[in-house]
Order: sequence, then C-alpha cells, then structure tokens
Amino acid sequence: MAKHKTPLLDQLESGPWPSFVSDIKQEAASRAKNEKGLDYQIPVDCPEDLLGVLEMSYTDGETHWKHGGIVGVFGYGGGVIGRYCDQPEMFPGVAHFHTIRVAQPNGKWYSTKLLGDLMDIWELRGSGLTNMHGATGDIVFLGTSTPQLEEIFFELTHNLDIDLGGSGSNLRTPAACMGMSRCEYACYDSQELCYNLTMEYQDELHRPAFPYKFKFKFDACPNGCVAAIARSDLSFIGTWKDDIKVNQEAVAAYVGGEFPPNAGAHADRDWGPFDIQKEVVDLCPSKCISYEDGKLTIDNKECVRCMHCINTMPRALKVGDERGCSILCGAKAPILDGPQMGSLLVPFMEVNKDDDYQSIKDLIENVWDWWMEEGKNRERVGETMKRLGMAALVHAAGVPFDARQVQEPRHNPYIFWKADDVKGGWDRDINDFRKRHQR
Ligand code: HEM
Ligand code: HEM
Ligand code: SF4
Ligand code: SF4
Repeated sequence: MAKHKTPLLDQLESGPWPSFVSDIKQEAASRAKNEKGLDYQIPVDCPEDLLGVLEMSYTDGETHWKHGGIVGVFGYGGGVIGRYCDQPEMFPGVAHFHTIRVAQPNGKWYSTKLLGDLMDIWELRGSGLTNMHGATGDIVFLGTSTPQLEEIFFELTHNLDIDLGGSGSNLRTPAACMGMSRCEYACYDSQELCYNLTMEYQDELHRPAFPYKFKFKFDACPNGCVAAIARSDLSFIGTWKDDIKVNQEAVAAYVGGEFPPNAGAHADRDWGPFDIQKEVVDLCPSKCISYEDGKLTIDNKECVRCMHCINTMPRALKVGDERGCSILCGAKAPILDGPQMGSLLVPFMEVNKDDDYQSIKDLIENVWDWWMEEGKNRERVGETMKRLGMAALVHAAGVPFDARQVQEPRHNPYIFWKADDVKGGWDRDINDFRKRHQR
C-alpha cells in the first residue's frame, strides 16, 4: 500500500518507455519487504516520500527543495550536493536528500560484481535510487542523510577502492568516449588519457582552487561521442595528420551493394541503392574526393578530417596512422555571457603515453596558471577568453599562433599593438607634432 496517493505520476507508468515511476515504486516495495533483513540507515520509506514530494510538485508546478545545501566529507571541498525538502513534516523520508557523486570507470565498463558491491553500500546507507550517470559522467547516488556521508565515503574508499567525483569550483569528473575499447575510429586511447589525467589532478578535483568549475572531456575522433567540444572547458579530440587509408576493393563492395553504407544505420528506410557520388563525393565539405573509373581518390592536403566519408564507408576508409589530438578551449552553457563551444587552441598534439602525456599536462597547467590568476570570480575560462582575448589565451598556453585558430580573420579594425612592436613606442610629445603641423 503506497504511502502517498500519486495520481499524476501514475499516468507515467503507461507507454513503452521504461517508467521511472514504476522503478521507484519497485524499489519502495523492495525496501518495505526487506528480504535481506537490512538495518536501513535512512528512512525505509525514503523512495515513497520522494514520489510524494514529486507528486506535489506536479500538482503545483513548483520545486519543493530548499535553496542550496553545504555538506561533504573531511579532506574534500566537493563531491556531495546537499539538499533538503521544504516540506519535511509531510515528507520526513526526504528531509535530507543529498546526492553523492561517485567516480565512474572510463567508458563506463562495469562488472556485475562491482555494481553489486556499490548497490550493497547504497541500499543500506542511501535511498536505493541512482542516476546512471550524471551528465558529467559520475555515478550518482540520489538521496541520503548527512550522518551517512562519511560512512559511505569510508566504505567506498576502504572496501571498493573508489573515490568521489567532483563538484564546486574545481576540476570536475573527466569523461571519455569508448575509444579504442570498441571503436575503429579512435585516434588515441581516450580512456587511458582520461584516467591518467583524472589521477594526476585528483587534488584539483577534490579541493576547489579555481575561479569556477573546469571540465575535461576526451573524444578519440571528431564524431564527438562524449560531446567534448560542447561540454568541456578543455576538449581533447582525436585526429590524424597523414592520409586516409583507402581500400579500393572494399570501395567496390560498397558501390556493388555488398556492404551497406553507414554500416546499415539507415536500413529502416528505403534510400535507394548506394550512390557513392551523391552520398560521399558530393557531400565532402572540402570537395577533395573524386571517384573515377571505379577508383576513389582523396586529396588529403585539402581534407578537414570531418569523418563523413569514413563514417559512410567504414570498411573501405580508415583514419590515418599519424594520430594525435586537437585541443579546444572554452566550451560552456549560456550563463553568464552566452553559450560557447570549444575554440581550437592546439591543432595537433601527440598523445604520448611514453612520456606520461607530459606535453598535454604542460598545456593544461599553462592554461590553469593563467586562468587561476586572471579569471574573475565565477568566470568560466571561455568567458576569460572573451574578456582578455583569444590571443591572451594562446600566449598563456605557450603554443604558437596559427591560422587554424580562427574561422575567419576579424573584420573590424580595432587592432591593438604592443608598444614594442611599434617604432617609437607610445611616448610622443605634442610639441614635436606641432613643429610640423600648425594648429
Ligand atoms: C574628403 C573628406 C574626408 C576624407 C577623404 C576622409 C577620410 C577618412 C578616412 C580614410 C578615415 C579613416 C577610416 C578608417 O580608419 O578606416 C577617416 C576617419 C575619420 N573621419 Fe574622415 N574623411 C573626410 C572628412 C571628414 C569630416 C568632414 C569629418 C568630420 C566632420 C571626418 C571625421 C572622421 C572621423 C571622426 C574619423 C575617425 C573614425 C574612426 O576613428 O573610426 N572626416 N576619414
Ligand atoms: C555629448 C556628446 C557625445 C558623446 C557622449 C559621445 C560619445 C561617444 C562614444 C561613447 C563613442 C564610442 C567610443 C568607443 O567606441 O569607445 C563615440 C564615438 C564617436 N563619436 Fe561621439 N559622442 C558625442 C559627441 C560627438 C560629436 C559631436 C561627434 C562629431 C561631430 C562625435 C563623433 C564621434 C565619432 C566619429 C565616433 C567614432 C570614434 C571611433 O570609432 O573611435 N561624437 N562617441
Ligand atoms: S568519438 Fe570517435 S573514436 Fe570515440 S567512440 Fe565516438 S566515433 Fe569512436
Ligand atoms: S574526412 Fe571529410 S573532408 Fe576529409 S575527405 Fe572525407 S568527407 Fe572529405
């Protein structure tokens, strides 16, 4: 027997999509039964009160969480998002409903053993409800009380060797695409680089030291499966600098209809037989592909490595062998001064595990040194770039200026010069001028 009536939420149990309402009800029922005989450390009816408060929000169209909440674990300045219900008498099970961010493995590969161990901790000490995963990447434990935070942290670190994720004005939890684990487009090992940098910068992740939040994301090719270019202050996007590898026999197999284009991604609709001219050659943004006498040729020096031809004929075209990544800076959501995607800072950098990714770490630390000093309070690095200029970032990053850092040159003539670059500098005497030019 449910604790609260939820007529509006009940409607969300119909339809084909997995219903979060049905799932929460199932967890509520399982806690009520308590087949394992657990000594639940937060109210057993926490999930029922969550449904109750959510139903109330559905009714009046307003949230019922109080403003903010500052909780955590000793030693760290982030990782837990505190939250309190604004109707604690009506819904005591969610009077405290803090969220714990738990560091996820890269590519989100799990064993059932690990997931089971995580859930054993969470069933006992939390609501039993989760988010798999937060948009940044973390495993999200949804809903527990303040006294359980250190208990959970102890068990995660001592029993499972797992740390918290990041929150606050710091390096947030980095995330990567599946990369080399299961993708033949991967130009570098995005999971390995992500893991290495996450470990390298644990201090910056756990103890806020920045003007504002800062995120890393790692896409091993320009397809952007982790959306690094839109969702991370520094985006690492794989690419290559030699030629696309063309297998002419496989090209013929696509043309002959033996291989489906785009690995069959459009098979649910009849688009007619594959037309290599129409679907590949004419769609190349650089117009650098030709297909003549049954042979596909690419003028690689004009190729912008957009991935289109490779995505369309994955069995015939492969990324090159000289691989690395591009680094883009400044992506952010609209607040305060408008949304930004990453702007190209380093066109090509080797991703070299042998020297422990030193050149990438140098670049990151240069950008941080600059932004940590110059960034205003709660100013994302993308906004610092706008305020102080892309040139200031390039200079601070210690990388060369490059035509590829702009989509087009400026059209306004408000061009600043350094005094050193101007003959005679800025110190001028009006009297000298008057000798030549009368008033
Ligand atoms: C035959 C007459 C004129 C010629 C050929 C002329 C030409 C120019 C040129 C080439 C510039 C520079 C534009 C640039 O920076 O891209 C300029 C700027 C300017 N002119 Fe003239 N101009 C003339 C008359 C005038 C008059 C009559 C006024 C004011 C009453 C005037 C006011 C200005 C001002 C204020 C600027 C500076 C604009 C800026 O800094 O962007 N000009 N003019
Ligand atoms: C109370 C009177 C005025 C005020 C408050 C005023 C204010 C301004 C401001 C704020 C700017 C922009 C500066 C910038 O872009 O950083 C400007 C530019 C300009 N003003 Fe005025 N202005 C006044 C009168 C005048 C008059 C009387 C003229 C011409 C006869 C004039 C000609 C210009 C020109 C040509 C510019 C462009 C300069 C440039 O692009 O660098 N202004 N003014
Ligand atoms: S971003 Fe590229 S390499 Fe990574 S999973 Fe997606 S397609 Fe593969
Ligand atoms: S990767 Fe893009 S730009 Fe390069 S040849 Fe293929 S379609 Fe053209």
